Amino acid sequence: MPASAAARLVFCRRSSSWPQHQLFRRALSQRATKTKDAPAASAVVPPSELPPFDYVPQPYIGPSSDEILAKRREYLSPSIMHLYKTPVNVVDGKMQYLFDDKGRRYLDAFGGIATVCCGHCHPDVVAAIVEQTKRLQHSTVLYLNHSIADFAEALASKLPGNLKVAFFTNSGTEANELAILIAKMYTGCHDVISLRNSYHGNATGTMAATAQSIWKFNVVQSGVHHAINPDPYRGIFGSEEEKYARDVQDIINFGTSGNVAAFVAEAIQGVGGIVEMAPGYLPLAYDMVRKAGGLCIADEVQAGFARVGSHFWGFETHGVVPDIVTVAKGIGNGIPLGAVVTTPEIAKALTQRNYFNTFGGNPVCTAAGLAVLRVIEKENLQENALLVGSYLKQRLNSLQDKYDLIGDVRGKGLMLGVEFVTDRELKTPAKDETLHLLDQLKELGVLVGKGGYYGNVFRITPALCFTKEDADFLVDAMDYSLSRI
Ligand SMILES: Cc1ncc(COP(=O)(O)O)c(C=O)c1O
Repeated sequence: MPASAAARLVFCRRSSSWPQHQLFRRALSQRATKTKDAPAASAVVPPSELPPFDYVPQPYIGPSSDEILAKRREYLSPSIMHLYKTPVNVVDGKMQYLFDDKGRRYLDAFGGIATVCCGHCHPDVVAAIVEQTKRLQHSTVLYLNHSIADFAEALASKLPGNLKVAFFTNSGTEANELAILIAKMYTGCHDVISLRNSYHGNATGTMAATAQSIWKFNVVQSGVHHAINPDPYRGIFGSEEEKYARDVQDIINFGTSGNVAAFVAEAIQGVGGIVEMAPGYLPLAYDMVRKAGGLCIADEVQAGFARVGSHFWGFETHGVVPDIVTVAKGIGNGIPLGAVVTTPEIAKALTQRNYFNTFGGNPVCTAAGLAVLRVIEKENLQENALLVGSYLKQRLNSLQDKYDLIGDVRGKGLMLGVEFVTDRELKTPAKDETLHLLDQLKELGVLVGKGGYYGNVFRITPALCFTKEDADFLVDAMDYSLSRI
């Protein structure tokens, strides 16, 4: 059966077996979601087949989805969530594709939450991990090993100014916790400023810095002031960067002693729904914070490592140089690895006491990190992120012209967001429609992420080896799914 027919069949079978979707679609069809000039829904056909890819996964002989789900329910924390009504049992990954237990290939446009930057199981990264694992898996930094030193040197070479001293961690949360601690020790101050709608992690300090109620438990979270988010789409001042920056100064003037420890921000908010900052905001905010004695922390956990395309780091797109940079996710292509990079002077603050991390800088993880940096360079992945990301954004913009449901398309490189609203004027979040579209795309073989405070944003953060053909398939699948709403 040709793939196009198979896709149609999958879609038809799914929709006919889910009467609630029919009802949902009928309710939605009473509201015009397509713009006036849009072609009739019947004119849009599902994308025919995924771009050719020369890889056949091993047959899967493990437990079924139902068995895994049953074990998860019994033995894993009920807090662990999954996407989709029927979650995908992912058993294989190769570059920008994932394979389920039946051998079906999916275009992975989420990249393990902006983490798989070189591609799933990239051979160079796998080889580095295997070679290092065979030789020495763990020793701690109490002994010498070249892996951590080589990677620290390579990482420093990618950062501007005097940002050249690294402390390795296992996650983004740990990296941000440490960065905030260093800032407090260095400045002797306690107040931290972060942006509303941000996500920085889920330990004590980082949960306090995170500013979305859905990620904040009801526990004491002190010492962080949340500045008005300079969000050009939903923010109260549109793109007027000076008005947003004034709030940072107001916080310093009226909420602190006049001196602060740090300002922490993502260059593009990831979990918050791929929210970019009003251009010109960051230099103003950095200036105010530094005048108040604080350090500027760039959380590059999602936007770093070539993802934004035009630059290697997200902060570079704002023309600033931070005092501390935190990284995780893409740095290891899926291996647990994070880092805090700062200047030698600031780094000294951590020598006031003993600070130790058992796995931080592990030889296997740092060997993977070095391989990731080499692959990004060897395969021109930053350039590809720019090229394919710009093309994809352009195609998504055209889709926005066609469907009123798309309120905003934003982001840079291969860190893109599509926000769905039921009313463009009121910007009413189209939460149910977003979930429905997410499921429909999965049926067509495309996996995207979901985010934003209201859960109404598609997060498109694939591996940086994503191709134009992949971008076309993704947009065609969205077009088809939107046309059926
Ligand atoms: C910007 C940002 N910072 C920090 C974190 C926390 O990273 P981790 O989940 O590795 O602790 C995340 C996770 O999504 C993130 O997006």
